[in-house]
Amino acid sequence: MLQSTTDGSHSGCRDGSCLFLANARRAPSTQAYRNACCTNEFSLRRRSTDHTTAPSSCSAESNHGINYSSSEDISDGQMGSVEPFSIIEGPEAWTAEQYKHRSDWINVLSPQHIAELDAAIAGVERKGVPSAQIHTVSKEDFPLPTLGPYLEAVRNEVVSGRGFALIRGVPVDRYSRRQTTIAYWGMGLYWGKASSNNKKGHMISHIKDIGQDPSNPLTRLYATHAAQPFHNDSADIVTLLCLRNAKSGGLSSWSSSVSVHNEILRTRPDLAEVLAGPHWFYDRKGEVPPGKKPYFLIPVFNYHEGYLSVNYSDNYFLLSQRHAEVPRLTPAQYEAMELFNKLAASDELRLDYMLQPGEIQLLSNHTQLHARSDFVDYDDIDLRRHLLRLWLAPPNERALPAVYEDIYGGPLTIGSRGGIHVEGTQEHIVLEAE
Ligand SMILES: [Fe+2]
Repeated sequence: MLQSTTDGSHSGCRDGSCLFLANARRAPSTQAYRNACCTNEFSLRRRSTDHTTAPSSCSAESNHGINYSSSEDISDGQMGSVEPFSIIEGPEAWTAEQYKHRSDWINVLSPQHIAELDAAIAGVERKGVPSAQIHTVSKEDFPLPTLGPYLEAVRNEVVSGRGFALIRGVPVDRYSRRQTTIAYWGMGLYWGKASSNNKKGHMISHIKDIGQDPSNPLTRLYATHAAQPFHNDSADIVTLLCLRNAKSGGLSSWSSSVSVHNEILRTRPDLAEVLAGPHWFYDRKGEVPPGKKPYFLIPVFNYHEGYLSVNYSDNYFLLSQRHAEVPRLTPAQYEAMELFNKLAASDELRLDYMLQPGEIQLLSNHTQLHARSDFVDYDDIDLRRHLLRLWLAPPNERALPAVYEDIYGGPLTIGSRGGIHVEGTQEHIVLEAE
């Protein structure tokens, strides 16, 4: 488990441990941040127009990497600068060595932030919004005068910075489940537009073992206690709010898919070409929109408008083989998946962290992979490991190629895309796993 330090120190590029700077070959950047190795440099060099002061209650350990700006970094129509099949520099291409002794990705809510959260929840309660309709609460219904810009700054670091962040201090022990759900929904409004997590239309999903069989190919693993290997979800960013931990296990891990890309390119460029190839069939696990097949095609490495967006899930690629008409995966594809998995889970690229109640993890699905270990839980379902999940489309995201229309369930409009949509999906909120 990562140990938080209190001095905010890091061992990034200053000590030469930034592995992927060597032999870089890429076009001159049109975006300053693409040239920055460390997040602190990045914060100084990226465009920003609306700096606000970090709240004084933020501890020294919590605010080093955050650019306290609500500027929308990549929504101005500029394209990125990534050249296909080139080593990608930038804060999103990090290694474990750069972060394992740092805590600048942990953002602690201040008493002022929590007071604003309490007031906003009370405002929703006064309106009597039914629990199933919590997803109709808008930003205007949920004012967060200082917490809002703070949350947007954290999100910007996820969208166009290092790609991951953690927020600590949501008072889930003091809130009822309904209040917690309102708080989480309301915070999500400052990150982007939410989308349905499943065919049932859950706008916030419950990550909890409800006894589903992980060996059933149609089971979504988040409803089991099984390990989940490194993968991406079906939205721009994924956030998880921890309510309870398991009796044992359930460790969260993540790594930079951009660093995985770089290392594959460096060591096996032939397999990088395989991963960027078109013949990756992705199983829908039975969540099939009208007129669609139970699978679709999407490469792992997607170069588009100067960005690399990675979409990976070996589980779903392997599952596609249950359909007789889907071509068999080739030996090169199996080899590519084996190398990808090994790198994503390697000590050099992987970070581990046990989420604690009241903490929210945010991850970019385009630049980061995530995983969790299996866990042993309590017999009493009310005591079991329980996380809430929001899938979100920020307004300042990158463009995506048309192949994402299948995995995102429709048009790729920035700020309004992602999620799972099948016939009859009715968006709503449930307060417990089902
Ligand atoms: Fe996931």
